[in-house]
Amino acid sequence: MSTIPDYKPGLEGVIASETKVSLLDVEQEEIVIRGYNLIELAEKVSYLEVAGLLLNGELPGRQQQQEMQQEISHYLELPDYLTSVFPLFPSSMGMMDRLRTGVSMLAGEAFDLDDRSKTANKRKTMHLLGALPSIVAGSYRSRAKQEILRPLSRLSFSANFLYMMTGSEPSQREADTFDQSLSLYSEHELPNSTFAARVIASTNSDIYGAMTGAVASLKGPLHGGANEEVMKMLLQAQTPEGLKELLDARLAAKERIMGFGHRVYMKKMDPRATLMKKSLYDLAQDKNRMDLYEICDLGETIMAQKKGLYPNLDYYAAPVYYLLGIPIELYTPVFFAARAAGIGAHIIEQQENNRLFRPRVRYTGPRGLHP
Ligand code: SDX
Repeated sequence: MSTIPDYKPGLEGVIASETKVSLLDVEQEEIVIRGYNLIELAEKVSYLEVAGLLLNGELPGRQQQQEMQQEISHYLELPDYLTSVFPLFPSSMGMMDRLRTGVSMLAGEAFDLDDRSKTANKRKTMHLLGALPSIVAGSYRSRAKQEILRPLSRLSFSANFLYMMTGSEPSQREADTFDQSLSLYSEHELPNSTFAARVIASTNSDIYGAMTGAVASLKGPLHGGANEEVMKMLLQAQTPEGLKELLDARLAAKERIMGFGHRVYMKKMDPRATLMKKSLYDLAQDKNRMDLYEICDLGETIMAQKKGLYPNLDYYAAPVYYLLGIPIELYTPVFFAARAAGIGAHIIEQQENNRLFRPRVRYTGPRGLHP
């Protein structure tokens, strides 16, 4: 009797880790983050507070939030050896490739690189949370031959992130909406990119290497790359009739419609998408762009009717980012910058109580051959 359990393509439905970080409770339609509901967190506290909860296991008080803001602000300033590389990137090099390279290079300034203690891994995660917005914004603006903007001390973390990308100081609504999106993107149990990071961390490799692997995973259009493709699709459609035609054509060609479906939610709406849709409505009203909201709503109706598929977070985050003036090719890098808090929490947990990931295979090739 084989002791090896059945093979599940794509590890579908397989429990690969024990964790105290988060759970997608599909039955209860709740995304649990260290005991809290992510949707309630996104509505009531800031992204930095959610990051503090992920890393420390409890929501930070005022004093701790100030300490986090101060520590992150220090890391928003990138080292010269990193910013000096931005102009060397070929102009054809995409933003996720630039981000992956930047994350890898950050290891160069970690004095505690191979210290896998909780304290050291928390510090390095804070380092990443601070540096990522500057890598995302700086590498983009360098290629666009625009001035690389330094963070403004009067702005919050999220407002600075938005400012450094767009060059405009956001309104309170814009900053709050962006901050909410970062919380919604912050953690989501064991998606491919987080799993990739845990697998790498399980070899006792360093957190920057694990995060670099996670960036490579998130670039994939079946995963993080979808939010950019959603916006390109909406711009190509332009009108409700255009979207209907485009969806009909792509479905007829058996193509995947970006922003719909989810391995875990299957035929249910991603709870994050529901909240992001509400924020899109408020932002679109503010900016007199209800036409964009309506075309998104139509797309949701069509996909539910034709495929029984519902939006994931990417579907509504994309038009929100568009109205916030974020360049389309920065949508997935922003997703990663937000998710670094959750991935950091998983890497800390993995290296606190580690077991090397080493699955087996079901061999379907030939046997008994001789050279
Ligand atoms: C993210 O894991 C996470 O939590 C990820 C994430 C996070 O926060 O980290 O939530 C972020 O990655 C969200 C997903 C972003 N990607 C997309 O929006 C890309 C489009 N979506 C799909 O490719 C798809 O829905 C997946 C990859 C997300 C999930 O696919 P599964 O679970 O592998 O489903 P499947 O391939 O087995 O499809 C089942 C059926 C198939 O139809 P049949 O061949 O059986 O007739 O559903 C169809 C699929 O063709 N289908 C779609 C579809 N998604 C599934 N058909 C059209 N458009 C789609 N989007």
